[in-house]
Parts: sequence; structure tokens; C-alpha cells
Amino acid sequence: MLTEAKPSWAHVDLDKVPNIVVPPPGPKSGDWHGRCTQYFKGLSGQVKLFPVTFESGHGCVLRDVDGNDYLDFSSGIYVTTLGHCHPKVTEAIQRAAGQLMNAHDFTTPIKTKLVEKLAEILPGDLNGFQFYDSGTTAVEAGQRVLRAATGQHEMLSCFYDYHGKTYGGVSLGHIRSKVYGPTRAPGFHMVPRPDVYRPMWTKADGSIDTDQYIQFYEEYLDKGTAGQVAGFVLEPIQGWGGSVMPPDDFFPKLRKLCDKRGILLMIDEVLTSMARTGKWLCMEHWDVVPDIVTLGKGFGNGFPVTCVAVRETYKESFESISASSSYGGNPMACAAALASIETIEEEQLNERSLHLGELALKRMTKMKEEHPIVGDVRAKGCLMGIELVKDKATKEPLNRAGELVYQKAFAKGLAWIPAGHILRMSPPVIMEDDVLLKCLDMIDEAIGETERELGYGG
Ligand SMILES: Cc1ncc(COP(=O)(O)O)c(C=O)c1O
Repeated sequence: MLTEAKPSWAHVDLDKVPNIVVPPPGPKSGDWHGRCTQYFKGLSGQVKLFPVTFESGHGCVLRDVDGNDYLDFSSGIYVTTLGHCHPKVTEAIQRAAGQLMNAHDFTTPIKTKLVEKLAEILPGDLNGFQFYDSGTTAVEAGQRVLRAATGQHEMLSCFYDYHGKTYGGVSLGHIRSKVYGPTRAPGFHMVPRPDVYRPMWTKADGSIDTDQYIQFYEEYLDKGTAGQVAGFVLEPIQGWGGSVMPPDDFFPKLRKLCDKRGILLMIDEVLTSMARTGKWLCMEHWDVVPDIVTLGKGFGNGFPVTCVAVRETYKESFESISASSSYGGNPMACAAALASIETIEEEQLNERSLHLGELALKRMTKMKEEHPIVGDVRAKGCLMGIELVKDKATKEPLNRAGELVYQKAFAKGLAWIPAGHILRMSPPVIMEDDVLLKCLDMIDEAIGETERELGYGG
């Protein structure tokens, strides 16, 4: 196992970073933010809770307009897996931008090299591809392939999964708003999925009982659907849901169920692929090959490029779904994705991601032992979570603590993302060991301060 990697371009001197020179959000941040938000509306909770204005990023460090330097513990929004402005990716995009920006879906040499590379690295016979410009549009295209390949139209998906914000994505996911209304599009069904920390069905010894979930799906297919299910669509690990891990026997059993019932398995790896969990696909942790898989976020390390990959048998279905789009597979996008994949190979970043996950889990386990509000800690590669609870026995979520810990750690110089009572961390996989530990120290401190503020002992 690789234990230390210090790519010189991204080395962080912990004597200098984080460096908070003006309490953030500082006056210049406030000025830019005020001007921008007169016109730019609909901000995420992440920005509303900590409205800084970022100016630049390099490796694992982000700088705001007041000159504060932060450690990036979320890779933007799970996107810059190789760090901000990785020289190889930046150079590849610049070269492509100076040569040919768009050729619709005509073949280009760079697109050819990318599909050949994907066919080489992805497991099984996942060797049919189409490219898009967001995770959501890839998920939409995946649904069209599901329908075209099976001739069926119903979809099964899981509570608390997230698949984007188009109507199809929203119909699969947990997102709810006045705009989308309380119901999803016709033919979309949601079922519970196993969560190791919060099992719905358990065996006599208290451990999670995967078979009961599978049995429930069988019954639901018979009684809750019209018998026209095209696919089961899931995240391998819930990202937005809070880095929620399935038990190891879940996906092998689900694969068998799908095969038995003639349903395709579509896995949404927009957030989890490309070294995020220490593999090209997270599903490789369980040796399961999906029929359809979506790739995004870290796929282009910040350049908007996403992908739908399908198995050999379903390749021809792309022909009947009117698959192309204006920006999908443009030369800059393909250059970014290819350079990102080559960097993961050259710098052994899948191995590095696994190593960082193990290191983080050890450190977070100590936090769980020491803090009364830390109910659970988990990590698979560089996808990590800490669940904050009112009481470790009842596991009642402590939402207010999530916000406080987020804000307190941000003020110390940790740029990251909030999510209710579950702290979600997704550092760049190029992060050095001591930097990762420093980030976790900052969270540890922020949890301690939050406990004191909310009146918890410890
Ligand atoms: C699993 C998953 N699918 C789809 C999406 C939507 O991707 P995008 O925001 O690029 O449209 C996301 C975004 O967070 C995601 O996590």
C-alpha cells in the first residue's frame, strides 16, 4: 500500500496554511457577494451559511478575495478530485481550447482516445459511451437507455438518493420543493435502502439484514408496480444523503435480484467514480458490474464533462434515444477527462485515496470515542462522513450541530460542505497525510466547541 505521496506542485506548508488574515467572510468578500447576489439568486445552503468570495485555487488550497487561505476538504463540490488546477489537466484544456472547441458529435482524435481509455479501465464489458455536460443530463440519458433497452418505463430508486434536478432526476431522487410538487412523475417508485448505521431490518444479533430488503423489493415489484420496471437506479454510496454506506453483501444480492427479474441495474456514480472511493467505479469494491453507469464531477476534475457508460449488450440502445447534445464530448471536455484519468494512473491516486480513507477512519474513530455527539464515522477512500446525534443510544439526529460545526471549522480555514446532522468530507485525493490530519483536527476542535455551546459534556 502506498503510504505517502508529495506531488511537489501541490505541497502544502502547514505553517502557512490555513491562514486567516481577516475574519471571514471579510469585507471584500461581502462587497463582491452583495453585488453578485443582487442578480444571482438561488444559492445553496453551503454558500448561505458561509458567504465567502473565492478568488483562486491551487491543489488543496483555496484563497478568498480578502487574502484568507483555506484547506479544501470537499474538492469544491466533490469535483476537483485531483486538486484545483492540476497542471496536467489545465494544460490539456488550454491546448484543446486553442485547437478546436466544438465539433458537435463528429469524431475527434481526443474523443477517440478517451473512449478507448474508458473501455480499458472500466470493469466488465462497460464499453459503450456517450458524453454530457452535467450529472443530471447523464442521468436523464441513462433513463432513456433503460427504457429503450427494455421497452419498459417504470423506475425503482431509493429514499434519500440524489440524482440531479431535472424532472427525471427529481423523480428518482429525494429532492422536494414547491416547484416539483409532492409527487414524482408517473411510474417512479421509491424503496428504502440498507444503511449500516440505521438499519430498518436487523438479524437476531442486531446486524443489518440485507435479505429482508431484497425480499421487500421482490414483493414491491409484484404488488407496488405495474410490472413494467425498466431499471433500478441507485447511488453506490449516498453522497448527498451523508456518505451513507451499504452493507458489503447488498449490491451482489441486488445484482442477482435484477438478473432474476429482468430489470437493468443503473448505478449513478456521478459522485463516487474516478478515484473518489479508491477505485474507478465504487461498484468495484463489491465486484458488481452495473448495466448502465453514470460518471461525473471528478471525471473532468472541474471541467463540465459527464458520461453514460453501458454494457456491450445495451450499446445499440444509444442509437434510438437521440443521444447527442451540443456540448457532450467537446474536445476541451474530452481533454480534461483523459488528462484526469491519466493523472490518476500516473500518480497512483486510487491507491492514495484508499490510504487516505484508512488514515481518516482511524482519526475519526478516536473522535467518536471522545465526543458524546459523534454517533458514527465512516470512510471509503476519500468519501467520508461523521454523523452527529443527540444521544448515541437513540441515534436521534442533531441538525443544529451540523451547521455549527460547519461554520466554526470554516472560520478556522476549512472550506467544505454542510449537510444537516451528517458532516460530509471529500478531500482531493492528492492531499498529503499531515494536511488530512490537520483538516480533521480542525473538525475535532469545531465539534468540541459546538458541544460546549449546546451544553453537551466531553
Ligand atoms: C449521484 C449524483 N447524481 C447526479 C448529480 C447531479 O449532477 P450535476 O450537479 O452535475 O447535474 C449529483 C450531484 O451532486 C450526484 O451527486
